[in-house]
Formats: sequence, C-alpha cells, structure tokens
Amino acid sequence: MKNLIVANWKMNPNSQKEAKDIFDAIREGARGLDAEVVVCPPAVYLYASGFGQGIISMGAQNVHFEDKGAFTGEISALMIKDLEAEYVIIGHSERRKYFGETDESVNKKIKKALEAGLKIIFCIGETAEERDAGKKNEVLERQVKIGLFGIDNLENINIAYEPVWAIGTGNNCSVEETKESVNFIRKFVKPKTRILYGGSVKSENSGGYIKDAGANGLLVGGASLSAEEFVKIIKSAE
Ligand code: 13P
Repeated sequence: MKNLIVANWKMNPNSQKEAKDIFDAIREGARGLDAEVVVCPPAVYLYASGFGQGIISMGAQNVHFEDKGAFTGEISALMIKDLEAEYVIIGHSERRKYFGETDESVNKKIKKALEAGLKIIFCIGETAEERDAGKKNEVLERQVKIGLFGIDNLENINIAYEPVWAIGTGNNCSVEETKESVNFIRKFVKPKTRILYGGSVKSENSGGYIKDAGANGLLVGGASLSAEEFVKIIKSAE
C-alpha cells in the first residue's frame, strides 16, 4: 500500500485564486511520485480547486453526522461525496477543542461518512497535560476504541496520530516517541490500517516518520500551504 500524504489547509487561504494556485502547483509537483496525495481545503474550495486529474484526491476537513436537515452551517457526507471528494478528516484536535467534538460524535461522523462511501482520516492525539500526567496511551486507546466503536470493516479508515502539543508549535514529536505511539495504536487496528503522523511536519523532518517511525503517511498543516515545501515532503516519503 502507498504512503498517504495529506494536506490539511485548515481555514486557509483567503481566496479561490490562491487556493487554485497552490493546488495546481502541488498537482504538477506530485506528478509521477509514488505516494497517495490528498488535499483537504476549506469545503468551499472543494470544487473550485479543480479535481486532481487522478494525481491528487480531494478531502473535506469535517462532516456532520446526519444526512440532511436543520443543521445550520454544516455539510453532509453525501454533499462531500457528490463533489467527488474521496476523503474526510474527522476528529481533528482543533474540532475537539474549539467545536465541542467528543469521541462519541466522532464515532457517529465516521459511521455516516463510511456509509456515504468516503475514506476517513481519523485524528487522535494526546494534549501536553495528558502526556505529562503519563496518560498518553490511555487517551489514545480511548479515542481509538470509542471512535471506531461498532465499525468492523476498517478498509477505508486511516488513523492520524497528531500529538496536540506538536501541532503548529514547531515542536514536532521525536521519531522514537512517534514509533512507540504508532506501535501502540497498531494493537487496536488491522495490520493494513495506515497510521499517519501529524504535528509540525516539514521537509527536514518528514522522511524520518516514514522510514524510521513506521508511519504510513503524514498529515501536514502549515507546510502544506507552500506547494514547494509540500512536494518536498511528498518526495521524502517515497
Ligand atoms: P501543522 O503541520 O501546522 O503543525 O498542523 C498539523 C495538523 O494539525 C494537521 O492536521
């Protein structure tokens, strides 16, 4: 199975033009490279960035757990699928922190997105406080078990291990510690389930996660807004 390299643009950039420029440059740079590449722009750009022409897949950053109805501001899995996006990020720590997502709501979202035929990038990770209190493994186990509760077929599930303290801080998790966490998470999923690392990934540190920590891909935030840097990251994972 190919490594999965995912760009999470979060709430960036501020115009369709910029989104399209970054997207086009990534697509050109990724041509012929041996990795599966997914770009997750803000949902309003899912159609505007143009489809990946078989080189890049598109993904959304969030989804609601109902099919339709009176849920102002939300988007459904069916809408994402209808835009020909293939993936959706679910349970990102920023959604858990700022938008009240819980392990239980994450589980409902994963089920609904799978039902619609989407592939999942399911985010888990401990906070600095949880890590300092020696609770990292307990937190990861709880997030995985509740998030995947009642889901037997993990074929379309990818797990992204993103320590919260490593996100957007420049303080990326060491290869050794990532390896321990990847091995720990692996106990709860299938041997073929891809486990990604995310948190201050840059081209200088990206290769180690794949080659030495045993991760099967990367979830990249800030560095994915530079096409040049993101393409270097994709290359480092080949
Ligand atoms: P950064 O790469 O900016 O640390 O963000 C990581 C992340 O949250 C990706 O989902």
